[in-house]
Amino acid sequence: MVSLQTVQQSNARLASLPKGLVALFIGATSGIGQSALQHFAQHASAPRIYSVARPATVVSHESLLNSLRQSNPTGTYNLITADVSLVSEIDKVVDAVAQKETKLDILFMSAGFMAFEGRRDTREGLDPSMSTRYYSRLYAVQRLLPLLDNAGVSSPRVVSVLAGGIEGPLNERDLDLRDPAKWSIWNSSVHATTMGTLALERLARENPRLSIVHWYPGPVATPGLAKAAQFGMSPPNPMSMEETGARALFLATNDRYAVQPGGLVSVPEGLEVAKRSGGGIFLVDPLGEETNNESLLADLRARGVDEAVWRFTQRVFATCVTHERDGLEKEPRS
Ligand SMILES: NC(=O)c1ccc[n+]([C@@H]2O[C@H](COP(=O)([O-])OP(=O)(O)OC[C@H]3O[C@@H](n4cnc5c(N)ncnc54)[C@H](OP(=O)(O)O)[C@@H]3O)[C@@H](O)[C@H]2O)c1
Repeated sequence: MVSLQTVQQSNARLASLPKGLVALFIGATSGIGQSALQHFAQHASAPRIYSVARPATVVSHESLLNSLRQSNPTGTYNLITADVSLVSEIDKVVDAVAQKETKLDILFMSAGFMAFEGRRDTREGLDPSMSTRYYSRLYAVQRLLPLLDNAGVSSPRVVSVLAGGIEGPLNERDLDLRDPAKWSIWNSSVHATTMGTLALERLARENPRLSIVHWYPGPVATPGLAKAAQFGMSPPNPMSMEETGARALFLATNDRYAVQPGGLVSVPEGLEVAKRSGGGIFLVDPLGEETNNESLLADLRARGVDEAVWRFTQRVFATCVTHERDGLEKEPRS
């Protein structure tokens, strides 16, 4: 376990890093992402921050960014309006960042929800609880690779907040869970998590400078968890948003989770660089320790399920982007 004191000391050292870290937050209009954004803005020196809000939350998010402008006037704060339940909207996000920046140092992704009301597909034909937690996140990393590759730090960082380390078996014949008998809140969470780990591992192998963290934050007292409580899901002792945000910033900026040290905050004394999964990403538990799910993941990789997930996902992306461009309404098929 990484103590909160160690986390806070590391975060405080962010101020002494070179100015001008560029960070993109997807999912920071609420909960874990919002707290991570607040901690980053508090500690970084002249950060250039981009944050995505869907139309309904633009006003409240702009007001949050205004408060950050006042507390850290050295930073620049850019709101991008996009609904990331649609994969194609990620293109808007990437274009908005690329218009102003030539590099990206940190990508923090925490958009997502559990579909307690059931599966209600987007106009791209996807379950939004999966598109926010898997498809759009993966498409964002893929599209942002050129900017991440230009990062000023030696190893640009991607943090995806979901359930790293607690992947589960996939319905390999129906990766998008189109069969209504196969779809459930639990199965869509398992698919988003497991496909997320496998696809991020592939990106890590292809981009050896990239440090990718898939974090399971444990129960956190967010608006998302409050909504889950209305549907009878109330895990005991959730972590506060304040502590979770501090821990999120540690994951995004400490070299404990870097494939190459240098550029961000060095590993605290007494700790070592975390061990990566067999596929090359950091699967991290709520308190910052590496987790191990190799018995499941190694089998999936050995049977080529990671490649099947990748191919399926690329087909979904092609369909979403083509349909959006052509204004079509069709379902992406495998
Ligand atoms: N909190 C926990 O206990 C916990 C535990 C494990 C994993 N997680 C995972 O961690 C991530 C963040 O959770 P959180 O508790 O911080 O959630 P949250 O407070 O509900 O915030 C979720 C974020 O996702 C966005 N979002 C939600 N539904 C969306 C939709 N249909 N389309 C587009 N954007 C949408 C929200 O945007 P708006 O503000 O516009 O709604 C917000 O930015 C989620 O993926 C969650 O599954 C959470």
